[in-house]
Amino acid sequence: MRSVTKYPVTVLLFAFACSMASASDPSPLQDFCVAINSSTSAVFVNGKFCKNPKVVTADDFFFSGLQIPRNTANQLGSNVTRVNVDLLPGLNTLGISLARIDFAPYGVNPPHFHPRGTEITMVAEGTLYVGFVTSDTDNRLFTKVLNKGDVFVFPVGHIHFQFNIGKTNAVAFAGFSSQNPGLITIANTVFGSNPPINPDVLTKAFQVDKKVINYLQKQF
Ligand SMILES: *[C@@H]1O[C@H](CO)[C@@H](O)[C@H](O)[C@H]1NC(C)=O
Ligand SMILES: *[C@@H]1O[C@H](CO)[C@@H](O)[C@H](O)[C@H]1NC(C)=O
Repeated sequence: MRSVTKYPVTVLLFAFACSMASASDPSPLQDFCVAINSSTSAVFVNGKFCKNPKVVTADDFFFSGLQIPRNTANQLGSNVTRVNVDLLPGLNTLGISLARIDFAPYGVNPPHFHPRGTEITMVAEGTLYVGFVTSDTDNRLFTKVLNKGDVFVFPVGHIHFQFNIGKTNAVAFAGFSSQNPGLITIANTVFGSNPPINPDVLTKAFQVDKKVINYLQKQF
């Protein structure tokens, strides 16, 4: 009797472990799988086409230009440069990528989340006020002021932001636990979807006057 009941528990634990494992990019099945968009010169298929390893070069693992400050003369006063698998094909299947974020004084990287990646951010210049909100019913907010050399981690799928509270430009570099972590910016998705969400839905959801929703939908 005992061994009969034990077995399903083991199976359950295994299934649980498997579902945990699929919460991030899968482990590579080979040394590397440099992404190419065409199947004609590909040899292996593992989610994406892999470039034939025989013709892979050092440049497939190389990206240059992340030292260049980006233009922050936009409404948010920030600019994100993503070095994901599209810019660095050698990242394919490796479950990792990088970004540079430039901030004008009082610039913001607005509340957003990455559906597929945890983010670890290091401030290289300036002072950022950063935070994320938990998904439980308390919706706890964790915040920190980061100076040069400080590091903060934003768990996968959590709404977070970065705000330059200094009087100078700020620069941060962010690592992601995905080759393509994805980006959902809250305001853009809720008020700027295509086609727009029915304003009655948003009026009720945000408990404000319909005029406020119409105004916000015009902004995005
Ligand atoms: C970010 O900076 C680049 C280069 O400086 C510029 O081409 C691009 O338009 C900027 N993006 C935004 C959203 O301002
Ligand atoms: C593959 O396609 C993506 C998206 O269209 C593009 O950004 C990228 O540059 C392409 N990569 C290569 C290696 O051609």
